[in-house]
Amino acid sequence: MINRPFQKSADFIANHFGNTNHDVAIVLGSGLGGFTKHLAEKKVLPTSSIPDYPRSTVVGHDGEIVSAAVEGRRVLVFSGRSHYYESASTVNAAVTAIVSDSLGIKRLVLTNAAGILNEAFYPGDLMLIKDQINLTFRNILADLESPVTNLHPVYSEELASLAFSAAEKSSVNLRSGVYVGLTGPSYETPAEVKVYRNLGGDAVGMSTVQEAIYARAAGMQVLGISCLTNYSTGITSEKLSHAEVTDIGAQVDEKFSRLLTNLIGLL
Ligand code: HPA
Repeated sequence: MINRPFQKSADFIANHFGNTNHDVAIVLGSGLGGFTKHLAEKKVLPTSSIPDYPRSTVVGHDGEIVSAAVEGRRVLVFSGRSHYYESASTVNAAVTAIVSDSLGIKRLVLTNAAGILNEAFYPGDLMLIKDQINLTFRNILADLESPVTNLHPVYSEELASLAFSAAEKSSVNLRSGVYVGLTGPSYETPAEVKVYRNLGGDAVGMSTVQEAIYARAAGMQVLGISCLTNYSTGITSEKLSHAEVTDIGAQVDEKFSRLLTNLIGLL
């Protein structure tokens, strides 16, 4: 049994949404909050009103939790997340997964904005995370004093297969690759990017890995989708900014929402 912090937060959320049973929890990454526009029967909860809930301060993260209906399913959507670099806490970084687990939700869809390592990919592409390399050098299971656990495969093969079916139905060219998770908050140097490519990474970002580890250890099924917003530093001569990351997210919104909606319909 894994320790579950944020019990007060989870109770408050459950109470707010009237103990609704959610079929799936979805975490929206930087620039991807537009998905909530497509939701029906929405009930919104700003995360700032939840006791003990870590704050999200990053531009492009709305900081709200939405309970809604999609394709006949009930979804709990976290628009915005807390990053490791905001409080140097793996536990805060995984609050979405921990609270979802406490609410009894069995499936977690983690989305994020990520930089491209694999030159065969393009800004605006969506990539299914088939596996991850946790280069934060932190592990939430150690911080929760949880026993050693074999997490392989971290990402559910069953959900991945449904995601590819949804991609076909949505006419989306869904890529597949390995996500490298770093602490941030600074972007990589060209020398670091070279290392991560040589390690087998296809995309790089500053979130997701602790949430995935916690959720898998807690027995949830995990799906990961990266929105590839930019080439990582040094792959092109362009300078990288957070504005670029959120802008591409907004451009991909329609395609991303179509894929997610069709996926939920298949769950
Ligand atoms: N590096 C790290 N994180 C990111 C990037 C990047 O290039 N783009 C979006 N998130």
